[in-house]
Amino acid sequence: RTVYLNGEYLPEEEAKISVFDRGFVMGDAVYEVTSVLGGQILEFEGHMARLQRSMDALEMTGNLSRDEWLEIHRELVARNGIDEGLIYLQVSRGNAGDRDFHYPPAGTPPTIVLYTQAKPGLADDPKAQKGIKVVSMPDLRWHRRDIKTVQLLYPSMAKMAAEKAGKDDAWFVEDGFVTEGSSNNTYIVKGGKIITRQLSHDILHGITRASLLKYAAESQMEIEERPYTIEEAQQADEAFYTSASAFVMPVVEVDGVAVGSGKPGPVALRLREIYLDESR
Ligand code: PDD
Repeated sequence: RTVYLNGEYLPEEEAKISVFDRGFVMGDAVYEVTSVLGGQILEFEGHMARLQRSMDALEMTGNLSRDEWLEIHRELVARNGIDEGLIYLQVSRGNAGDRDFHYPPAGTPPTIVLYTQAKPGLADDPKAQKGIKVVSMPDLRWHRRDIKTVQLLYPSMAKMAAEKAGKDDAWFVEDGFVTEGSSNNTYIVKGGKIITRQLSHDILHGITRASLLKYAAESQMEIEERPYTIEEAQQADEAFYTSASAFVMPVVEVDGVAVGSGKPGPVALRLREIYLDESR
């Protein structure tokens, strides 16, 4: 596989990063995951806009231009022959010297890494036809979840705990309300209405979420942006989540309770179809 590191395209074995890099030592890095379907990059503009917002929020400088990013994305897809898959992009604050809590001097170049992951069958994931099961967990992440940092230890712990419980994923709960999934934005459907938590620092502002809500509104579907509880999700007609890697994924069980019929609901399946049609 050919990867990108700081201006160079390299075989993955040759891409090396300093042991002092703040992405490694401090989790001082932001990232994006973008999907590729039929060789096409989905939601490129949205992901680049959010990357800039994440960097701005952390006073990280040295971002590339939109056109530079586009060229790198296209080059990696071409060089690695990606038809269906993901592009992982990470920008860390780099580092010039020893470990230090303070940021390095202005002008220290960031470390920029991109690589592709081939995922044949990404759009036809059989899980979307079966639906997935989630368990709730307290949201123990920090309070700037709108910044897409690589500090992913708690989401990893949550996914491992879900797996141990024989389930597929975790939904996080704070002050009695669902914030989001371990790596996705969550929704319930009641009486035809799509309900999802409003944007704030409490959740990541999903690129898939933004497009999905736009397409749903264009299809005359009713949307309500507000928090909801696990109990409300269990009593809903349907539940689902969205992310760049899963698109729209039906959720059929929450904490051992079947949601609706216990099968993927018509609204979730229709939204998945609409999303896949509209975004490529
Ligand atoms: N995760 N919320 C969280 C906490 C996420 O990590 C993600 C994405 C989302 C959905 O955002 P988007 O629609 O822009 O992908 C919401 C990515 C896919 C990941 O970490 O692999």
